[in-house]
Amino acid sequence: MTKRIAVLGAGPSGLAQLRAFQSAKEKGADIPEVVCFEKQSNWGGLWNYTWRTGLDQYGEPVHGSMYRYLWSNGPKEGLEFADYSFEEHFGKQIASYPPRAVLFDYIQGRVEKAGVRDWIRFQTAVRWVEKTDKGFDVTVCNLPEDNTYTEHFDHVIVATGHFSTPNVPHFEGFETFKGRVLHAHDFRDAMEFVNKDVLIVGTSYSAEDIGSQLWKYGANSITVSHRTAPMGYDWPDNWKEVPLLTKVEGNTAHFKDGTSTDVDAVILCTGYKHHFPFLPDSLRLKTANVLASSDLYKGTTYVHEPGLFYLGMQDQWFTFNMFDAQAWWVRDVIMDRITLPNHDAMLADVEARQSAEAALEDDYACIWYQGDYTKELIDETDYPSFDVEGACQAFKQWKGHKKAGIMTFRNNAYQSVITGTMAPLHHTPWKDALDDSLEVYLQN
Ligand SMILES: Cc1cc2nc3c(=O)[nH]c(=O)nc-3n(C[C@H](O)[C@H](O)[C@H](O)COP(=O)(O)OP(=O)(O)OC[C@H]3O[C@@H](n4cnc5c(N)ncnc54)[C@H](O)[C@@H]3O)c2cc1C
Ligand SMILES: NC(=O)c1ccc[n+]([C@@H]2O[C@H](COP(=O)([O-])OP(=O)(O)OC[C@H]3O[C@@H](n4cnc5c(N)ncnc54)[C@H](OP(=O)(O)O)[C@@H]3O)[C@@H](O)[C@H]2O)c1
Repeated sequence: MTKRIAVLGAGPSGLAQLRAFQSAKEKGADIPEVVCFEKQSNWGGLWNYTWRTGLDQYGEPVHGSMYRYLWSNGPKEGLEFADYSFEEHFGKQIASYPPRAVLFDYIQGRVEKAGVRDWIRFQTAVRWVEKTDKGFDVTVCNLPEDNTYTEHFDHVIVATGHFSTPNVPHFEGFETFKGRVLHAHDFRDAMEFVNKDVLIVGTSYSAEDIGSQLWKYGANSITVSHRTAPMGYDWPDNWKEVPLLTKVEGNTAHFKDGTSTDVDAVILCTGYKHHFPFLPDSLRLKTANVLASSDLYKGTTYVHEPGLFYLGMQDQWFTFNMFDAQAWWVRDVIMDRITLPNHDAMLADVEARQSAEAALEDDYACIWYQGDYTKELIDETDYPSFDVEGACQAFKQWKGHKKAGIMTFRNNAYQSVITGTMAPLHHTPWKDALDDSLEVYLQN
């Protein structure tokens, strides 16, 4: 096969794509040449922790949005690779909410085994992609050598993530606020806020998890401001939920209901933007953070230019195994094992998925919707089939455990849908597990 494929980004999605091609090769298929461009010096995407914020040593925007002490916010049983179980990687079953370092190790283990590291050009930032008569010209910069060059590819697969460019609203008085204002993207260490009074804006996963970290590591108080609705969990005594922030005066934050509170810092947990500065308008995905992304046939193929693919651009209940399903499916389109329908049929598919999403009534329906989508793709490829229904059930139990105790849900254990084994209970309750290194976590 003489095709050349560019994979942009070596996070979980890009790595899934490399593994998909390598697994076809392992089974004897003639695969295209695959080149992955990754601007960081290592793989793992968001899971490759960095202390840096702002710009990196080359002046590139820092990709990382993860922080110290981050543990998985959903059970690992919902994200397990079907072709590489946790037991295969760690040699034993492990507890259900691994910290970041443990999940990084697991992600890395599969691609090390696959031997695809030399397919990746690290410290190479994608600068521009242009459609040509025969495919795409991809212009990249080797950052340490400060060398910009262009190569031609038949297909481009965008796997650069969408939880890295922060959405940063302005509130009156920020200019003169006497404390620190930051976005979740730049949050790194809860110890910075020990004994502080912190205001969080936003009510989704970053708000919940960063607030929980602050509580765990000793912040004095946490106030969470909502635009739409409060999260409504049974929070600890030093945690309150308030309506939307209207303005800040000095150190005092004022809210829509007329109440106010004094705070030392404001953390904007206000989400992220799909941001692809290396793509022209004609190729650039413009979508909200939803389950049925705009303009992507089967959630992967850019309908206006079907030689171009996107991975992992949806809002995510399912993650690693959904990225795998997408990567195997894209591989099979590229290798002519799956035929794309015409433009109108692809657009109709997008619209049908969007209507179906609009009709979903609650989070449970959303979980099953994304589970069904993942299964649909898996059924069309040779990705190992697994019990997707079981993974949905794990998410359902997880939601129940969160309602029962927002600071205790991570003490629960679930059954693997890949090996059938029950996870052990973790040796230490999450709130007391201050050392979350890989070595300590694995002491079960
Ligand atoms: C704070 C936080 C916590 C999360 N926690 C969980 C969790 O507990 N469980 C879970 O399942 N999911 C979690 N997620 C969701 C997360 O999106 C996925 O787990 C996963 O990292 C997505 O993989 P990805 O490869 O699509 O994107 P990313 O992980 O973002 O990787 C994209 C890669 O592309 C590279 N890149 C970007 N631009 C360029 C460029 N121009 N040139 C070259 N390379 C480029 C980046 O350097 C990066 O390596 C979390 C997300 C955030 C923000
Ligand atoms: N431990 C973990 O595993 C962990 C931790 C953190 C994040 N994550 C992951 O990171 C991803 C992103 O989560 P996220 O919470 O950062 O983003 P998100 O889910 O997109 O939520 C964005 C939040 O910001 C609010 N918001 C947006 N603009 C606003 C404005 N102008 N004023 C007030 N509020 C505003 C939204 O409120 P409305 O509801 O009003 O729109 C929403 O609550 C998720 O996949 C999540 O799972 C995981």
